[in-house]
Amino acid sequence: MSVLSSSRLYMPLNAVLAAPGLLAVAALTIPDMSGSGRLGLAAVLAVIWGAYLLQMAATLLKRRAGDVRTPTIAIDVLAVLVPLAAFLFIGGPDWSLYCAVWLLKPLRDSTFFPLLGRVLTNEARNLIGVTTVFGVVLFGVALAAYVIERDIQPEKFGSIPQAMWWAVVTLSTTGYGDAIPQSFAGRVLAGLVMMSGIGIFALWAGILATGFAQEVRRGDFVRNWQLVAAVPLFQRLGPAALVEIVRALRPRIVPAGAVICRSGEPGDRMFFVVEGRVSVATPNPVELGPGAFFGEMALITGEPRMATVSATTAVSLLSLHSADFQMLCSSSPEIAEVIRKTAHERRGAAPTA
Ligand code: CMP
Repeated sequence: MSVLSSSRLYMPLNAVLAAPGLLAVAALTIPDMSGSGRLGLAAVLAVIWGAYLLQMAATLLKRRAGDVRTPTIAIDVLAVLVPLAAFLFIGGPDWSLYCAVWLLKPLRDSTFFPLLGRVLTNEARNLIGVTTVFGVVLFGVALAAYVIERDIQPEKFGSIPQAMWWAVVTLSTTGYGDAIPQSFAGRVLAGLVMMSGIGIFALWAGILATGFAQEVRRGDFVRNWQLVAAVPLFQRLGPAALVEIVRALRPRIVPAGAVICRSGEPGDRMFFVVEGRVSVATPNPVELGPGAFFGEMALITGEPRMATVSATTAVSLLSLHSADFQMLCSSSPEIAEVIRKTAHERRGAAPTA
């Protein structure tokens, strides 16, 4: 699939439609709302429902081509059928509450939930380990609180399940204050529970943060790898150099018409075109397409940019910083030679001042 695909537009569009819908659902629960106000809000819900009906029809048509995921279809169908069924069969003021199913809409194209799923799967062992510790501490603390406080406050600590409520509230450092240990030993226990609660939550947060960082890095690597494969020049690299260059390259998408580098400016990176076209504003403008590179001259000579380069179409680029360019040159003299030769020819093509 093209990296310049416009399907990413769906997510903000769905969020933009869902937000007024959910605000209308919330506003309709205000008891003092006037009749005309309610009618206006119901009209907003009807318009959004109509838009979602069209989106569902488009999704079902696309499904035949086989490029729509099952959760997407399920969300689109639920967003239409649940409010419709509520309107037809429940009616009254409560039908609009069912439009809250639109909360699912912004998630429809989100890449976050598949990412979360992968993180939870990868980190399952560690998360289960910390959760087990949490369970053990919770039970132990509830048992201790029961033993210490049961005679002083039988109505709050009269059983282990009752004491467990206090233990959860204290271990999570929420502290509602509805049950407070009265004895000295109970208070010492409460202090220890709070501190171990902070430690356990920090462990959970640390595991999830590390898992997310690793998964994002892995995703970036795979995406860069696919982009690098689209540049024929890199096919000359051996596996070790390829891994290094995949780590060094930064992907970038530039909209049509935007300037990528300007004549006369210092240059600290060069660019490889993955998809789309760029125009080099030389006296006889040159167009470069997929697989081509530019911005290499400033890196080789250390002089300012020779020409302004702008995107003719939306363009997907990989940029390589000057330090990584030196690394590429030393790990692959063959590629360095191709880049130098091209730069030499381009310089030769430029009119002398
Ligand atoms: P640099 O001078 O760093 O920045 C502008 C870039 O435009 C330059 O590197 C080249 O990569 C590119 N460029 C300059 N002249 C030509 C040309 N005649 N043909 C293709 N590309 C060019």
